[in-house]
Amino acid sequence: MIIDILTLFPEMMDAVLGESIIGRAQQKGIVEIKSHNIRDFSTDKHRRVDDYPYGGGKGMVMQPGPIYNAYRSIANGCEKKPFVIYMSPQGKVLNQALAGELSKLEHIIILCGHYEGVDERIIEEIVDMEVSIGDYVLTGGEIPAMVLCDCVCRLVPGVLSSEESFLDESHYSGLLEYPQYTRPPEFLGRKVPEVLLSGHHENIAKWRREQSVLRTRAKRPDLLEEDLIK
Ligand code: ADE
Repeated sequence: MIIDILTLFPEMMDAVLGESIIGRAQQKGIVEIKSHNIRDFSTDKHRRVDDYPYGGGKGMVMQPGPIYNAYRSIANGCEKKPFVIYMSPQGKVLNQALAGELSKLEHIIILCGHYEGVDERIIEEIVDMEVSIGDYVLTGGEIPAMVLCDCVCRLVPGVLSSEESFLDESHYSGLLEYPQYTRPPEFLGRKVPEVLLSGHHENIAKWRREQSVLRTRAKRPDLLEEDLIK
């Protein structure tokens, strides 16, 4: 999978996405994440990328020209139009199902906005989907883009090792994950549930499934659909 990120802060993206599991996936060549500085595509002698909003009002708006030039510099070399995502609090709210869909794409371009947003015409011209990471507002699209990259890339086959598999974890099956324990068997008087020490795989699986349902009911009842055990 290739992800190109259009941003005013490329170093911020590279620092975070170059580390840990996503950094390792890049080294292995499973995912390729490149950040592009929108400012490099400004035709203004001061490398300006924003201007006052027509009609007045507070803040500045990112101009369409530099973003379009940055987009073209990537898309011109592609046979198929890359899927363009604009990080925005007005977008479709990210969840595990959406991350799963996006992880199947070959090539994504992520546009990070700043100031009061981007000129509407760039959204009309190049953007395929607006994505929000939740109903709150951040100062820019960079942190949301990192969140999106992390949760999409880890679903790309080969990124997680079998020990890190996402099959059991919260949200994958629509339920929260069961509680986990490791050594010691007793900590501050709290014992690890007996069944986990029993070595009886069937009973352990049954217990974990029950715990997942109980936890979801207690912590996130909204996740339990009508036709599921309520
Ligand atoms: N930019 C600012 N706030 C955002 C949010 N909640 N999601 C995605 N992009 C954003």
